[in-house]
Amino acid sequence: MAIDLARVRAETPGLAHVLHLNNAGAALPPRPVTEAMIQHLRREAEIGGYEAAEEADATLEHCYDAIAQLLNCRREEIAFVENATRAWDMAFYGFRFQAGDRILTGKAEYASNYIAYLQVARRTGAVVEVIPDDAAGQVSVEALRGMLDARVKLIAITHVPTNNGLVNPAAAIGRVARAAGVPYLLDACQSAGHMPLDVDELGCDMLSATGRKYLRGPRGTGFLYVRRAMIERLEPPLLDLHAATLVAPDRYEIRPDARRFENWESYVAGKIGLAVAVDYALDWGLEAIRDRVYALAETLRARLATMPGVTVRDLGAERCGIVTFTKAGREPGAIRQALGAQSINVHVSAAGDTRLEVASRDQSGVVRASVHYYNTEEEVERLCGALARL
Ligand SMILES: Cc1ncc(COP(=O)(O)O)c(C=O)c1O
Repeated sequence: MAIDLARVRAETPGLAHVLHLNNAGAALPPRPVTEAMIQHLRREAEIGGYEAAEEADATLEHCYDAIAQLLNCRREEIAFVENATRAWDMAFYGFRFQAGDRILTGKAEYASNYIAYLQVARRTGAVVEVIPDDAAGQVSVEALRGMLDARVKLIAITHVPTNNGLVNPAAAIGRVARAAGVPYLLDACQSAGHMPLDVDELGCDMLSATGRKYLRGPRGTGFLYVRRAMIERLEPPLLDLHAATLVAPDRYEIRPDARRFENWESYVAGKIGLAVAVDYALDWGLEAIRDRVYALAETLRARLATMPGVTVRDLGAERCGIVTFTKAGREPGAIRQALGAQSINVHVSAAGDTRLEVASRDQSGVVRASVHYYNTEEEVERLCGALARL
């Protein structure tokens, strides 16, 4: 379905209040998402939390079907988790690394992931190695190929870095990982809801994502995909009576499906909101969403490139809805604040978010303006006008 901008905007109440270009932070939810959540919270207050969850069982179960459709996988390969970081952690910490094992990752890896690598490396003697970038600034598939040997136990890549408009060649990396028989963990936090994701095409064995960003779902929601063949090879780092069953006083059995990575108590209203958000994205179609977002971002980059003192910082052969830039003589934080005072929401990607990549570029921080399909060319123009007047 082509995106009906008038309908989308009418269904996004936040647009009446702000010019929202922080979609890579948290996008504005559409009305059906918010309403479904409020309706559930009301039922919790009226009849009790457990009873409301029972009443909503079909919708809660639908969440798995919706995500499975989004990723082209099976419902039993999905776990609902409270955010992308924890989803990623449940997969990563499920590996049993040993001294000398190699973990290969990219330069623009999200800091939380990188911290986890360092912790595991310190504990086990595994080593973390960074795959060099190619000439376009994205993970070099050729370099990855050259780094492979029998000691590589995991390839873990961020699909779309938090601080840059580039899209890493995730499917090409997946082909290399598959050919080598190495498990492949993809951080799709910024790409879910932003572009089509098909786990078979991507060739990943595990994929983590969040609800609140391009999917336009609620905060405090996320999910993990684990390929069927991989599920029982990963021992969840944390278990409870939902992930496992105590079958005897001295024995438990871990669930055979991906819900072994969940825990019992969860944000039920959020899960309902996430299901609605995924359906909403699927209704528009991920190709249509990607095409509009990419085109709008290119319009913004082209416009920024004409402005004196402004430098677009995005790298990569394929560029998405995240647009990063700096302005000479102005701190990114001051730009964000000045725009915020005019109800224009942008974000600052700080050095600590992707420490390695930023250090290699000698750049301390950038302004991040991330567009969504509900933004307009007029809004892009308004941002640039405000920026010019700073
Ligand atoms: C690339 C990437 N990975 C992971 C995360 C963490 O997501 P969450 O805050 O949902 O845990 C972010 C958040 O900005 C991100 O940009």
